[in-house]
Amino acid sequence: MRAVVIYESLTGNTAKAARLIAHEVAARGVDVAVYPITDVDLKALAEADVVFVGTWVDGLVLFGHRPGRAGRLRSLPVIDGKRVAAFMTYAIHAGKALDRFARLLEERGGEVVARTLLRRDRLEQGVADFVTASLATVPA
Ligand SMILES: Cc1cc2nc3c(=O)[nH]c(=O)nc-3n(C[C@H](O)[C@H](O)[C@H](O)COP(=O)(O)O)c2cc1C
Repeated sequence: MRAVVIYESLTGNTAKAARLIAHEVAARGVDVAVYPITDVDLKALAEADVVFVGTWVDGLVLFGHRPGRAGRLRSLPVIDGKRVAAFMTYAIHAGKALDRFARLLEERGGEVVARTLLRRDRLEQGVADFVTASLATVPA
């Protein structure tokens, strides 16, 4: 099985979350590589059985939540027909940002098989369960 982790990060939290996810994936014996969204290896992406995509929550804390740098996310390389596991980091309140992010990924042709929010002050919490759920969707 092969996986890639693609992330958008402004201040480093989502990059860190991407590395935590990749570490967890690798610990289960799965081939994994991590790429910033601006520098994705297209061959690795084409060969991936599952694609983790992460960004951060952008909003006005109490409302207007959306995926950070949605423009970059919309210009993701083709993820048509790929199993996609979506993750977002946030500070306090994410509103409906994760739903919006999942919708955006589906518009790009991905099949969102798992999704999670990771709070920036406890990024590792929930990573193991998220990875388990995501990998479980890949037929053996
Ligand atoms: C412009 C801006 C708006 C943000 N709005 C929210 C918000 O509405 N709710 C929230 O929980 N966090 C918000 N945050 C915090 C980020 O989502 C959080 O720090 C995230 O982990 C940043 O990821 P990064 O370090 O990968 O850029 C905002 C951050 C920025 C820069």
